[in-house]
Amino acid sequence: MPSRRRHALLALGSAVAAIAVMGAPAVALAAPGDPGTPKYGAGSDGAGDPYFPLAGNGGTDVLHYDLDLDYTPAPPEPAPIEGHLDGVATIDLVATQDLDRFNLDLRGLTASSVTVDGKPATFEQTENELVITPRPKLKSGAEAQVVVTYGGTTIQPTDIEGALYGWVTTRDGAMVVSEPEGSATWFPVNDHPTDKSSFSFEVTVPEGLVAVANGLLTGSSTADGTTTWTWDAPDPMAAYLATASVGDFTLDQYTAPNGTPIIDALDQDVLASQYVDLALTGEMLVFLEGLYGPYPFNSYGAIVDDDSVGYALETQTRSFFSRRAREGTIVHELAHQWMGDEVSTYRWADIWLNEGWATYSEWMWNEFRGRDTAQEAFDAYYADPETEWGTVVADPGPFGLFLSPVYDRGAATLHALRVKIGDDAFFELAQTWVERFGGGTASTQDFADLAEEVSGQDLDAFFEVWLYTPEQPLSW
Ligand code: TRP
Ligand code: ZN
Repeated sequence: MPSRRRHALLALGSAVAAIAVMGAPAVALAAPGDPGTPKYGAGSDGAGDPYFPLAGNGGTDVLHYDLDLDYTPAPPEPAPIEGHLDGVATIDLVATQDLDRFNLDLRGLTASSVTVDGKPATFEQTENELVITPRPKLKSGAEAQVVVTYGGTTIQPTDIEGALYGWVTTRDGAMVVSEPEGSATWFPVNDHPTDKSSFSFEVTVPEGLVAVANGLLTGSSTADGTTTWTWDAPDPMAAYLATASVGDFTLDQYTAPNGTPIIDALDQDVLASQYVDLALTGEMLVFLEGLYGPYPFNSYGAIVDDDSVGYALETQTRSFFSRRAREGTIVHELAHQWMGDEVSTYRWADIWLNEGWATYSEWMWNEFRGRDTAQEAFDAYYADPETEWGTVVADPGPFGLFLSPVYDRGAATLHALRVKIGDDAFFELAQTWVERFGGGTASTQDFADLAEEVSGQDLDAFFEVWLYTPEQPLSW
């Protein structure tokens, strides 16, 4: 299975990196015929992604995060906007190498205690890393439960481009949107899509506020001026897609025509006219299931907050919108549930696979609704003298993740591919992509390989021209 092979390569890369960092081999090679002796070493401080070297970690695979959070938003006055978060993260993980030390990502919050399988572990923190020394050590393949008690002041963190992300404190709550590696601002985490996990949440907030996380609402109870909201998200999820947004929300619950339970969280301070288009959600679910196959998760819905991070995010099962939710953005974030969430990028360089598909879904939805056809959208993009052709779409760099070529040339690439291989092969490709790589990650190379497999065509030149050449494609 390709995703398995990828994981094996990743683990190897991490071990090599760990050796390089330590300046001497940390792990002696096992003698032939002596595979059983543990060779304890430290897990790497990163998952091996060149764009974000410290994101994620090596040596562990998280199975489940149970996040028990206690949050107080920023008071009405004064500046700066700061809240307070106390958390207990109970993390079930499996060691993928013999470990005498391993890391979780944690930034801006302070751990006060760590246990591993109930026994106190020693730990230290650097700017981005919580380094844990378990006693006893962990053997490769062993499962362990790590409990981290932590907390501190919450701020308004920004990503490397200066966009708000992570646990973004507001006066009436928090906007929690963590792409690409902002989850470490609110819980200890292997913050990379190659380590997907199930999640459960128990979030306590001042009475009157609502905490909205991923998946299904399993309960809420009020006592002593606080309300605790519990949510269950059992489907594998990349950490950046987790949310636990807090606000003056009204919850609107219904069942979509395809049977998916919908929970929308609508800020009471946003006019209903700003999100009327959410009424199209059910029809969009049916439309996208026709393109990509069954909706992959246990629920869906939108969060519409009265504050803004400046963009929307495809938080898994519960897309986040700043101040308004318009038709194009709604179908974009919904399409991401298949393309980005169910199938995630193997490396952040592969981001066009998320944004290209989501943007192309907007083009196809517009055609379905009787507006411009996908071909007309392609033609307009291709002919527009303003179109920027100088980006390598399949390697836009860490500062280029959300540049327009990743979205628009990504979409144009998919349309050009569809015309080249025909509708039957193209939609078989889309559905096989989700079936084969769903629940895990896949790379641009995996996509090109599958396109060749499904179409029977040699597509090397096609992908070279569309994804790897920073010029306008002239023939393909
Ligand atoms: N993934 C989001 C979307 O396209 C976009 C996004 C995430 C973004 N972080 C950002 C856009 C920062 C601009 C700046 O749905
Ligand atoms: Zn997007």
